[in-house]
Amino acid sequence: MNIAIILAAGKSERLKEISVPKQLYLINRVPLFMYSVLTFNDLEEIDEIHLVTNEQCLSEIEQYVKQYSLTKKVKGVILGGKTRQESVYLALKHLEKIAKDDDIILIHDSARPLLEKETILKNIESAMRYGAVTTAIKVKDTIFSESEDGVDYMISRSRLYQAQTPQSFKYRLIKKAHESAVLNNVFANDDSALIKEIGYDVKIVLGTSTNFKITTIEDIKLLEMMVL
Ligand code: CTP
Ligand code: MG
Repeated sequence: MNIAIILAAGKSERLKEISVPKQLYLINRVPLFMYSVLTFNDLEEIDEIHLVTNEQCLSEIEQYVKQYSLTKKVKGVILGGKTRQESVYLALKHLEKIAKDDDIILIHDSARPLLEKETILKNIESAMRYGAVTTAIKVKDTIFSESEDGVDYMISRSRLYQAQTPQSFKYRLIKKAHESAVLNNVFANDDSALIKEIGYDVKIVLGTSTNFKITTIEDIKLLEMMVL
C-alpha cells in the first residue's frame, strides 16, 4: 500500500496576522490543509490518507473530511505532538497495525498546498526503488552566511538543494529511524535527517518551486495571488 500522512498539528506561531491556525485558513473558501489532501485523494496510487492535527483543530478537520466526502480514503484523523517530529512519530505508531514493512509512507506538510500529482508519483516510484526519498529543488539564488560585518562568505550553490515534502519511505525504515531518534534523543526538523542518522541514504526527487511552504503572511499573500 501507499499511505499518506498529512501533517496539520502545528500552531502557526510565525503567522500572527491570521486568527486561525494556518491549516484552517480559507483560500477560495477551501481550508488550506484541504488542498494537498484533495491532491492525494485524487490519485488511485494512494490507498490511505491519515491526517494528524491538534486538539484545537480536530473537530473542524473531522467535519471537513465528511463535508468533502473523503471518508473512503481518509482512514484516520489523529492527534499529533508538540513538535513536528513527535507528530510524525505518533502517526507511525498509529500505523503499526495498518502498515506492512514494505508499504510506502509519504509524509507531507499540509502547509504546502500546491503540491503536484507528478511529485507524488515520482516519490512513490523512487521510494519503492531506494527506500527513502525527499522532494527537493535546486537552490537558484546565491547563498551566504552572515557575519558581524555583513556578508561572510559565499557558499557554492551548485550542490545545494532546498528540502520540501513529501518525503517518502518504506514503513520499516522510517519507523526504525523515529524509534532510534526517541531512544537516542535525536531531534531534526526533517524525516530524511533521521534516516541519515541511522546510516541509510536518502535519494532526491525533484519538486517544483510552486510547492513552497506557507510560513509567514508573505506566503499567504503569494498563495492568494496564485490561486484567487
Ligand atoms: N506540524 C505538526 N505538528 C507539530 C508542528 C508542526 O504536524 N507539532 C506540521 C504543521 O502543521 C505543518 C508542518 O508540520 O504542516 C510544517 O511545520 P511549520 O510550517 O513549522 O508549521 P507550524 O509549526 O504550524 O508553524 P510555526 O513553526 O510558525 O509555529
Ligand atoms: Mg513549526
